[in-house]
Amino acid sequence: MKVIGLDIGGTAVKAGLVDTTTGSLVSARRRVPTPPGGGPNEMAVVLASLVAELSPDAPVGIGFPGPVVHGRIMAATHLANTWTGCDAPEFFGSVLGRRCVVLNDADAAGIAEMRFGAGVGETGVVLMLTLGTGIGSALFVDGQLVPNLEFGHIEIDGAVAEDRAAARPREAEHLSWEEWAGRLETYLQRVDQLVWPDVILLGGEITVEANRFLPLLDVRPRIVIARLRNAAGVVGAALASACA
Ligand code: BGC
Repeated sequence: MKVIGLDIGGTAVKAGLVDTTTGSLVSARRRVPTPPGGGPNEMAVVLASLVAELSPDAPVGIGFPGPVVHGRIMAATHLANTWTGCDAPEFFGSVLGRRCVVLNDADAAGIAEMRFGAGVGETGVVLMLTLGTGIGSALFVDGQLVPNLEFGHIEIDGAVAEDRAAARPREAEHLSWEEWAGRLETYLQRVDQLVWPDVILLGGEITVEANRFLPLLDVRPRIVIARLRNAAGVVGAALASACA
């Protein structure tokens, strides 16, 4: 089945047409900047043109950067707060004129990694963390997703963890790899104390440079770099739509 995957982020919107049987992209991956304002109306314009480019009729799966409980957007930290309360399948469905399944972006990335990437064959407690504008989290227990976990928002020393240890603060504060890895290590150790996972899958564009920071981390659980990299959110959103 061919499904359009959309991955809405605080910095960019990614899209692609996905073959959900193989988990591979059957179009070029599109990446456009998140529209200024980042509210529903601005986003609708961007998504409509991406979807029209990719396929005239394929259904759509959307990863959204906030908790999405039974289709309802509960928060959107890095986008306009006018998203809160939005009935996402209804809104996107009417804007795009197609059936839309909407879920948290990290949950989508985790689904893709568990099915086709670094999580294949992993059992027990698997925690996927995505390092981007924020920190996304997805927890799998024997392959079963526990949705909408918000571990990017735990507080460490009075600060929201993702404001210190996501990929964005590294760039924004011009941190060295050593400085940033120190923050990430503190974060991973704290999350470990809360979840005690068997393995942590690390995703997000920054993991392309994993060799710069992975050797600096001293943490208990096994750390595995996500394999689908930039495509995980797009592929996972499409998979979620195909399964719905
Ligand atoms: C949001 C999460 C999201 C993560 C990555 C966080 O700020 O609260 O829901 O998964 O950013 O986009």
